Amino acid sequence: MSGNIIPLKIAGVGYCLPETVITNDDLTKLYETSDEWIYTRTGIKERRVVSGNETAIDLGYKASLNAIQHSGIKAENIDCIIGAASAPPQLYPTLACLMQQKLGITKKIPAFDLTAACTGLIYALQVARGFIGTGIYKTILIVAADNNSKITDWTDRGTSILFGDGAGAMVVTASDDGDNDILSLDISADGSIGQLIQTNMPGECCPLVKQADTIGNGKIIMDGKEVYKFAVTTVPKYVEHCIELSGMKAEDIDYLIPHQANQRIIESIQNKLKYSDEKVISNIKYYGNTSAASIPIALTEGVEQGKIKLPSTAVLCGFGAGMTWGGAVVRLREGIC
Ligand code: COA
Repeated sequence: MSGNIIPLKIAGVGYCLPETVITNDDLTKLYETSDEWIYTRTGIKERRVVSGNETAIDLGYKASLNAIQHSGIKAENIDCIIGAASAPPQLYPTLACLMQQKLGITKKIPAFDLTAACTGLIYALQVARGFIGTGIYKTILIVAADNNSKITDWTDRGTSILFGDGAGAMVVTASDDGDNDILSLDISADGSIGQLIQTNMPGECCPLVKQADTIGNGKIIMDGKEVYKFAVTTVPKYVEHCIELSGMKAEDIDYLIPHQANQRIIESIQNKLKYSDEKVISNIKYYGNTSAASIPIALTEGVEQGKIKLPSTAVLCGFGAGMTWGGAVVRLREGIC
């Protein structure tokens, strides 16, 4: 889609992380591994996980509240909610409907989830841009929340070292000053390589018919090496493409806020853009891969920690299961968090 009729404003961002920390050393209690092996290959030292009754729904609710508060917009003025979890704890009611209920939004508004795995936030932003740009809805809450720890095979040391739990949210609205905060936005997918990351839900056929040979167990199965190759060959070039679409030059953009999957993948994008470390927002060391939540977490925390100064511009990029990927060049206004 090119050229919004109504420009979009990113009004507020927020995040929430569970408190429980699992370090690389903790993982040595589960299988043979080491902090050194994990850190050198991924840049991850620790990740956060939910515990007890806590789920991604709780994290998503707190992240949404945080983003709504920062936006200065009242929850009852939200016209639409888009949930963007990779694997929500409940397929239905959807994450979005649960947010509507938890936020106490009694107005009858549309609330739905879309699934684009770790690219979910960028996909949701594209959908929101379409709605707002054409005047269908004015203010949209996007919420990305995942408890990856519940769909991780904790006996698989190739995947369980990577993922963490967390939630991020964004409130977007029709711009009141004519400025568009989306300078470019593009999303894409290649289903022909979808087998690289899978989560197959359990489910048996009707007892009166022949059963399938294999039944899914709802856990992440991943070909890490191939995903890595895909990411370092596709994503850096793609980020350049998104920058080109914005009409800006890489050197004129203040920050790179990438999906936090692997520090080496982040560095492959950084090297392509020739960015100094100060321009690249990375918190993977502490949170691992929190799926679609990773970009809004990195953005909000980056501002809180003074790594991102406002107002500024940033290039966002996501990629993940599907395979899906997406990128955006955005304007970050003062007061978004
Ligand atoms: N600790 C110690 N050894 C491990 C290990 C661990 N946690 N995980 C795997 N190994 C072993 C393997 O068994 C293998 O041993 P072998 O050679 O004796 O068979 C060896 O280390 C190499 O395994 P491999 O899977 O080839 O490692 P790798 O260098 O590809 O690194 C990942 C694995 C997962 C870190 C890396 O492939 C990666 O980060 N991929 C991208 C995944 C990703 O980002 N996914 C999400 C996208 S949104």
